[in-house]
Amino acid sequence: MAAEWWKKAVVYQIYPRSFKDSNGDGIGDLNGITEKLDYLKELGVDVIWVSPMYCSPMDDNGYDISDYYKVDPMFGTNDDMDRLLAEAEKRGMKVILDLVVNHCSDEHQWFVKAKQDPDCEEAGYFYFRRKEDGGEPNNWRSNFGGSVWTELPDGRWYFHTFSKKQPDLNWENPKLREKIYEMINWWLEKGVAGFRVDAITFIKKDLTFASRETEDGLRYPIENLTDYPGIGDFLAEMKEKCFDLHDCMTVAEAPGVGEETFRRYAGEHGYFSMIFDFTWENMEGEADKSSVEAVERWKQRILKSQRFTSEIGWNGLFLENHDQSRCVNKYLEKDQIGYAGASAMAVMYFYLYGTPFIYQGQEIGMTNAVWNSIEEMDDVRAKGMYREALEQKKDPQKVLEYFGELGRDNARTPMQWCNEKNAGFTEGTPWLKVNENYQDINVKAQEARDDSLLAFYRRLTALRHQEPYASVFAEGTVRPVMEELPAVIAYEREWNGRTVTVAVNFKKTEQEIPAINGALSAAGNPTEGTCLLSNEGEPERIGERYLLKAYQAVVFDGKMV
Ligand code: NOJ
Repeated sequence: MAAEWWKKAVVYQIYPRSFKDSNGDGIGDLNGITEKLDYLKELGVDVIWVSPMYCSPMDDNGYDISDYYKVDPMFGTNDDMDRLLAEAEKRGMKVILDLVVNHCSDEHQWFVKAKQDPDCEEAGYFYFRRKEDGGEPNNWRSNFGGSVWTELPDGRWYFHTFSKKQPDLNWENPKLREKIYEMINWWLEKGVAGFRVDAITFIKKDLTFASRETEDGLRYPIENLTDYPGIGDFLAEMKEKCFDLHDCMTVAEAPGVGEETFRRYAGEHGYFSMIFDFTWENMEGEADKSSVEAVERWKQRILKSQRFTSEIGWNGLFLENHDQSRCVNKYLEKDQIGYAGASAMAVMYFYLYGTPFIYQGQEIGMTNAVWNSIEEMDDVRAKGMYREALEQKKDPQKVLEYFGELGRDNARTPMQWCNEKNAGFTEGTPWLKVNENYQDINVKAQEARDDSLLAFYRRLTALRHQEPYASVFAEGTVRPVMEELPAVIAYEREWNGRTVTVAVNFKKTEQEIPAINGALSAAGNPTEGTCLLSNEGEPERIGERYLLKAYQAVVFDGKMV
């Protein structure tokens, strides 16, 4: 089997609830995904990452699993999964699943038994604590607001990093670890090509569970909870007992990792094939996201990340996922949202050092929705924070505004397939509202046009696959160039004597960049570089310069003059 096949892959993330409903119940499903495989193939997708589709009470839309071996009836059956795997394989595509093993659901049989009998084996699969005074074991705040502890009627408290319906699994227990490994291998033997590994930096905790100093009661104890010393033993074991036995791809969700952690997680002998680097994921806090200054700060974060990650490991590159708002809203001011900005961002991240991931709808430029009330939202995190604000007599409107702009529901509105009822997502009533702009932004309309964002994404993936460039992107070094040009993000990728230069002008006005030359001619003279891709037509060469339009992005075979 080809080594590190995933370095040349383009991955597409599917949030199954919102992708395509095949049976009219208002919820996307596996057969809906199978229906759309040809669309994905044409888009140039090699690997599909399906967010959780396992049995779940859906407190956190499937990130709370009650049966790891079974597809939730809402998404179909295990036979539908087999069919999806087979149909994907027919088209030369692979499927990876979400691996959620920091926690399960409080409705998982393990937890149900553990609740009933404190002495049963399964009780050892979770973290239970009691305090003599009966109070909460400590003052740690959970990721979704409120305490990490919830009390059972018998006075035991159980630990949950996320919602109270997501009890954390006790990785200290070897029996539990064996159960997890068995399950991972079961899916890999079935034919899945790997996993996106959820919240994995949380699996080791500071077992003293000592309270932290705080001013307002609860404190989010990041240092006691993520990448805690000793986690490597668990991760190395999982790799050895599962991932190493299969030619699989693993991408870990590991926010907040620094340089050293990156090496351990995604370096040459790392626990995973790659991790998502979240250090440049958004422009939160930037007053004017499109200003030169804001882009410059963003650029520094991107280039810094590329410098260290390319020296030591491999990246999962992304602009969006199911936990983020839409990239056009994240990185662009409202009046800049559209084809130019969206295609410029696409070029910028697609050829960086790493494997590019496209999140469903990103390829057609789907945007954030407009949220009028908390009732319209679904996200357990938004609801938890809203409740907490009410309890603490803080202004809940602020929470609504925050989640309206940055909340996770923005990426979870149904996929916009066409301009018909419910954007062609379902014949029934969609589980979450469809973004009102589906008449303008949808797949069908963009399929009909050569100048659409969708058409551009197809060219983007085609270049990522075209040799020798595919090898340049998979094997080549990365070097920032034109760094002094304001709001220009540019870099060279080089491999085997060939250089590809990517340059993107994020300025709202046109701007000159140095021209790019190709190889020397037989007579020893420099030739002009070949423009491999541009979102706004080939730039005109004026002597030793090109003039790039606002948001113009170009990829050249050649080197900066
Ligand atoms: C990260 C996932 O991406 C997110 O959607 C989920 O809520 C948490 N982990 C908990 O599983």
